[in-house]
Amino acid sequence: MNNLTFDTGRAYAAYRDTQDELSAFRSEFVIDDPDLIYLDGNSLGRLPAATIGYLQTTIREEWGSGLVRSWNQGWSEAPRRVGKMVSSLIGAAPDEVVVCDSTTTNLYKLSLAALSLQQGRRELLSDVLNFPTDLYILQGVQHLLGGQHILRLLPSQDGIVIPTQHVLDAITQNTALVSLSYPTFKSGYLYDIETITRHAHQVGALVLWDFCHGVGVVPIELERWGVDFAVGCTYKYLNGGPGSPAFLYVRRDLQNRVIQPLTGWWGHQAPFAFDLDYKPAQGINRFLVGSPPILSLVAIEPSLEMTQRAGITRIRQKSIQLTSYLVDLFDAYLAPLGFTLGSPRQPQQRGSHVSVSHPESYRITRALIEEMKVVPDFRQPDTLRLGLAPLYTTFCETWDAVQRIRQVVVEERYKKYSEERLPVT
Ligand SMILES: Cc1ncc(COP(=O)(O)O)c(C=O)c1O
Repeated sequence: MNNLTFDTGRAYAAYRDTQDELSAFRSEFVIDDPDLIYLDGNSLGRLPAATIGYLQTTIREEWGSGLVRSWNQGWSEAPRRVGKMVSSLIGAAPDEVVVCDSTTTNLYKLSLAALSLQQGRRELLSDVLNFPTDLYILQGVQHLLGGQHILRLLPSQDGIVIPTQHVLDAITQNTALVSLSYPTFKSGYLYDIETITRHAHQVGALVLWDFCHGVGVVPIELERWGVDFAVGCTYKYLNGGPGSPAFLYVRRDLQNRVIQPLTGWWGHQAPFAFDLDYKPAQGINRFLVGSPPILSLVAIEPSLEMTQRAGITRIRQKSIQLTSYLVDLFDAYLAPLGFTLGSPRQPQQRGSHVSVSHPESYRITRALIEEMKVVPDFRQPDTLRLGLAPLYTTFCETWDAVQRIRQVVVEERYKKYSEERLPVT
C-alpha cells in the first residue's frame, strides 16, 4: 500500500504508523503493557519516562540536600519558569503566564479579576457545553457579588456544537464576561475563537477561555487573538501528572489594572518583607496566591520540553489524522451497531478526542476497561470519549480499539456489568 486512501483493514493502520513523523515519541513514555490501549490522555496523560529521574533529582538533591536553601536556587521562580515554557505553546509572552493552583481556582481568580473592570455590566455569558466547574465558579461569583449578575447559558441543539454566530448574537452592551472552553470537554468542539474575541471587544465585553482540553494539542495564539484571560490544566495533553498545577494567562495591559481576589502573600509585591498590609505585585506575579507545589510543578517540565521538541504544528497535524481516521472507522464499524457520533465531523472544528454515544455507553466502557484492555472514559449520560494523544497514540491502537468496542457490543459482553456508577468514570 503506498497512498493515504482510507481502507478499513489493519494493514492500512500499520501503514499509517510507518508514515508517522512523531512515532519515536511513544518510546519516551512509560508503557508497561503494550497491549493496553490508553485513550484517556484527555483526562490524565501518560507518564513521560524522563519525569521519574527529574523528580528523583529534585527530591533527593534539592529537597534532601538543599533543604530550604533551594527556594533561592530555582524554586521561587518555578511558577514563572514553567509558565514561560507554557507561554511558547499558547502564543503568549513569558511575562503573561504563570503556573499555579488548579484550573478551578484560576477560573475564580480571573473571572473576578475581569469583573473588577466591568462595573455596570451585569451579564455573564457561557454555554451548556462548558465544563461544570466553569459554571459552578460563575455561579459562585454571581452569589458573591450579591446576585446582581445574570448567568446566561447558550443552548446547543445537538449537544455537539453551538454556531459561532449564536455566541456573537448573544453578546450585548450588558455582557461583562464571555467564558467558554476550547475545545468543549464532551464533544471536543472548537469555536471560532478569534471572531468571538474580536466581537466581544467591539461590544466592550471581556473573554476568559478555558484551554484544558486544548493546551499541548491544538494551536493557541492568545496574543494574536487578543484574548484577555485564559486558563488550562497541565495533566491532560501536557502529561504533568495527577492534579498538577494549571496555567493562567492575563494579557499584559490588563495585569496591573485588575483586582485579583485571592490576596495571598505570593501575590504581594514583596512576599518576604512580611509587610502587614497587602500590596499587589506588579505584572503576572499578582496572580500567585500561596507557596507553589514544587514537586508537582517540576514534574511538568520534562513533558513540556518534549512537547516543544515535537512542535504544536506537527502535533496538530497528527491529531487531525488520528481523529479523522477514527471518524472513518466509526462510520465503517460503529455506526452500524447503533452508535452515533458525538463530535464534529469537520476536523478544523474538533480537538483531539472523538466522542461516540450509545444507550449502553456506561456498561460498554466498563467492559472495555475490565476485560478488553481499552481505557476510554465515560461522560453522562451516554458519551464514550476516545482521546487520541499524538505523542503516544498509534493508528494500530485506534484500529484495535474500534475492533474491541465492536466485540463488546456484538458479543454483548457489556451485559454482565452493573449500571451502578463508579465514583470516577
Ligand atoms: C475543561 C475543564 N475545565 C476545568 C476543569 C477542572 O480542572 P481542575 O479540577 O484541575 O480544577 C477540567 C477538568 O477536567 C476541565 O476538563
